[in-house]
Amino acid sequence: MKYLVLGSGGREHCIAWRLLNDGSASEVYVAPGNGGIAPEYCIPIDPANFDAVKKICLEKKIDVVMVGPEAPLVSGVVDYLSKEKIPVFGPSRQAAMLEGSKLYAKRIMEKYGVPTSAHRDFQGKESILSYLSRIKDYPIVIKLDGLAAGKGVCVASSQEEAHKFVSENCFSDSIVFIEDFIDGEEASVLGISDGENIFPFIAAQDHKRAFDGDKGPNTGGMGAYAPAPVINETRLRQVRDEVLVPVINGMKKEGHPFKGILYAGIIVRGSDIKVLEFNVRFGDPEAQVLLPLLKNKLGDLIEASITGNLSKKILEFQPRHAITVVIASGGYPGTYEKGKLIVGLDRISSDIIVFHAGTQSKNGQILTSGGRVLNVTACADTLLQAREKVYQEITKIFFEGSFFRSDIAYRAIPAR
Ligand code: GLY
Repeated sequence: MKYLVLGSGGREHCIAWRLLNDGSASEVYVAPGNGGIAPEYCIPIDPANFDAVKKICLEKKIDVVMVGPEAPLVSGVVDYLSKEKIPVFGPSRQAAMLEGSKLYAKRIMEKYGVPTSAHRDFQGKESILSYLSRIKDYPIVIKLDGLAAGKGVCVASSQEEAHKFVSENCFSDSIVFIEDFIDGEEASVLGISDGENIFPFIAAQDHKRAFDGDKGPNTGGMGAYAPAPVINETRLRQVRDEVLVPVINGMKKEGHPFKGILYAGIIVRGSDIKVLEFNVRFGDPEAQVLLPLLKNKLGDLIEASITGNLSKKILEFQPRHAITVVIASGGYPGTYEKGKLIVGLDRISSDIIVFHAGTQSKNGQILTSGGRVLNVTACADTLLQAREKVYQEITKIFFEGSFFRSDIAYRAIPAR
């Protein structure tokens, strides 16, 4: 089978690696790809250019397209390719609204009884500022509707902070909603669906803040591990029964069956779970710890999702642990320089997997080209062993300004 993976991050490198390594694929092209993928398999096109995607599919005789990031899904790449009779994994444009519009997701959750915090919605900067000046209880969560590349959410601990966020990010036509803040531990539960059935993966936990101790600005994710013990087997069943299944049934009733990966950002407090958000694709860096532990062939699951045959599959995971640590460019998630030479990749032990993200290959050298640059990943029988391995190896890799968090998985195992 020949696959085309759309995207350029660590998640897409990991998907391509997995498809090749478990025998699902004979060839995997990645568009546009990154420096971790052999140049002859990188296709320099923009995944938002659907005509170009179709042309490549025909030229390379692609059997299946796998969409990595949310933007092409929300813009309708699945609808477009399906019309062209090109098999594609992921939700339709309407179903992808679960990530494309936080308000749509909230309405679906409310309609189908999925646990989530109460909210109020507003249209326009003035109406929200007027509401903020009347409330006294902080913290609150402010969410901008629509895709915002991880920058659309603010947990405001004071009126001043809330005003600043709204003043800087909202316009007269912005749709915004405010939620109660829930204090608890976050985890990511992803499920794969064929529109009728959904099966959860083991839970993972991301680390969104830039620096150790969950300090500093929010990022796309600085590291992850799986399984995350905060979602034990009982809670995983609870997430399946109270969140994933009702949403899949609800979307079917709405006339927009959801196929692909449904990612629920969950907050856990005692025995209570609530959904913070949905994504409609693999998480990044969650994919980098879930896919190495998956026992099934990824290609079989993708095919079963597309053809509506998932009920015949049993999702299985190795009884092991995985951890991934992101090496980022100095200054990320703010401004950072690109084009730094990465050294040490050739010295990494063979049982470590380095998924590339913001890298490019130039004249035989690997240079930085983004904020999150590499995902150094290890699997082992215990989380402690996996963490030891990763942190032993990661210091062998260097580029000017590079940094990484040294406390990934700190909620599950004591600090080193
Ligand atoms: N790890 C967060 C995300 O993929 O959105």
